[in-house]
Amino acid sequence: MNEPKATNIKWHQQHVTSEMKAALHGHRGATLWFTGLSGSGKSTLANAVALALHRRNVSTYVLDGDNIRYGLSRNLGFSTDDRVENIRRIGEVAKLFTDSAVVNLTAFISPFRSDRQIARDLQPDSFVEVYCKADVSVCESRDPKGLYKKARAGEITGFTGIDAPYEEPESAEVVVDTGADPIEVSVQKVVSYLEQAQIIPPESVA
Ligand code: ADX
Repeated sequence: MNEPKATNIKWHQQHVTSEMKAALHGHRGATLWFTGLSGSGKSTLANAVALALHRRNVSTYVLDGDNIRYGLSRNLGFSTDDRVENIRRIGEVAKLFTDSAVVNLTAFISPFRSDRQIARDLQPDSFVEVYCKADVSVCESRDPKGLYKKARAGEITGFTGIDAPYEEPESAEVVVDTGADPIEVSVQKVVSYLEQAQIIPPESVA
């Protein structure tokens, strides 16, 4: 599906560079790639981190799984091929946000290691994988959208964690135990990593 098709195209260099945009924002761009099962708290945590960063004058944007499927990925379902294409698109969009010196937070199950690696390879120096680790039993007990129940009843097939695979990250930059830790702890863990990696400046003490 993603074989190049266009011919006679040429790359144009932008006059306003990423460095110029970073200077304007006071920080560079990066992708915080949240991955985990449905109901593992990816969107909730991504939004909480975005708010914490926004309050520190960091420009953010959350790319959220369900929302993206209303627009950019509206022609995609949940077959393996469609999920691969979904993540390919998000990886490319995330890179554009990074180029514009925005800290972008993506919240997609992104179940396949190879797809996450492709997204990482697009921007290896600016990619932070955040694994929202929670057992399927925890996610199923939350079942915020009632989808696990439907999957168990056979009304949805190919549901991640039930009858479709999820490949755990092997070396995520940040692992948060969303089954056990309070959200503030997880937010702090991500923000501390960003400071340490010098993606955002340390908090100024007034
Ligand atoms: S991904 O696999 O392509 O990364 P994505 O994060 O965009 O998935 O969408 C996952 C969301 O779609 C889930 O949180 C859930 O609300 C919904 N969904 C609907 N059908 C499925 C399914 N078969 N498997 C997983 N999630 C599904």
